[in-house]
Amino acid sequence: MNQDIVILGIESSCDDTSAAIIKNGWLLGQATASQEVHRIYGGVVPELASRAHEQNIVPTVDAAIKRAGIQKEEISAIGFTRGPGLMGSLLVGVSFAKGLSVSLGIPLIDVNHLQGHILAHFIDEEGKDNRHPEFPFLCLLVSGGNSQIVKVNSYNQMEILGQTIDDAAGETIDKCSKFMGLGYPGGPIIDKLARKGNPNAFTFNKPVIRGLDYSFSGLKTSLLYFLRDRMKENPDFIEQNKEDIAASFERTVVEVLMHKLTLAVKQTGIKRVALAGGVSANTKLREAYLEKKEKAGWDVYIPPFSYTTDNAAMIAMNAYFKYQDGDFCSLDQPAFSRVTI
Ligand code: KG4
Repeated sequence: MNQDIVILGIESSCDDTSAAIIKNGWLLGQATASQEVHRIYGGVVPELASRAHEQNIVPTVDAAIKRAGIQKEEISAIGFTRGPGLMGSLLVGVSFAKGLSVSLGIPLIDVNHLQGHILAHFIDEEGKDNRHPEFPFLCLLVSGGNSQIVKVNSYNQMEILGQTIDDAAGETIDKCSKFMGLGYPGGPIIDKLARKGNPNAFTFNKPVIRGLDYSFSGLKTSLLYFLRDRMKENPDFIEQNKEDIAASFERTVVEVLMHKLTLAVKQTGIKRVALAGGVSANTKLREAYLEKKEKAGWDVYIPPFSYTTDNAAMIAMNAYFKYQDGDFCSLDQPAFSRVTI
């Protein structure tokens, strides 16, 4: 009898259609189709995203299976993102997963996208160092829609220690780019500019929020007013100072994130600290983690760049753990646009 566990993971929560094959915890192959169509609109247009997923899902799954060098009959189960995300986008992945599971006669596993980001730290890949955090560990999950400090007790037991009460860190950085008349998504643009700027050139008021929660809406407004006032004095202010503005704003966001995370480490006594989500690609945030490793003795886990953005390998990995627990879902499992950890 074949004891191998082969999982097909499908991710379609936002604007990336991704499929991956994990065999016994090892990533064999992944294919991702990104959607350029949104760039001219300065943000993801939900209707266009669902249409593009519909076009991309079959070739993407096909490419992942081919890259993995397996036959579809070898797949043990299909894991799919059930949410959070854009409903139209999610429905494409969920419906495709259901159809394929019926045709192959194999079980379905629903995966929480946020848990997927965190468990990306357990994907084994040939030629990589494959270091995994031991439980329990803390994870700063920072993306376009989330900013959370999560205590990860096991593969399937996680608790939120703190989270944003308004905007997410990624959304705030994206807005910084937008206010400055730069492109979308703003994260990589601000990151690149900031590397050439002085992080101490300007000061922005940091939010004062109790406990381990975050707030970024005030910081966003403070940047907006700052730019408005300076542009009144000098219409070329942004153009002349864009590197310094980006560096100073990015420093402030990273300091806010790291302040609460440091507090969480002190409160829990857990020094194993991981990073996950799209904003984990940020250079300054990665540097801040490495500084904590050197100066405060944190055992840090920073994801490879390929796992910072949405990907199906993390969904397949999550499903792999659930498969071993026999944690399957039925064909009437719906998609949810809002789901917590
Ligand atoms: O996790 P993700 O790919 O999508 C979800 O929100 O689910 O995160 C996207 C966010 C965007 O706000 C994007 O601007 C931000 O991650 N991001 C970055 C960087 N790369 C992507 N933020 C800061 N620095 C970066 N290098």
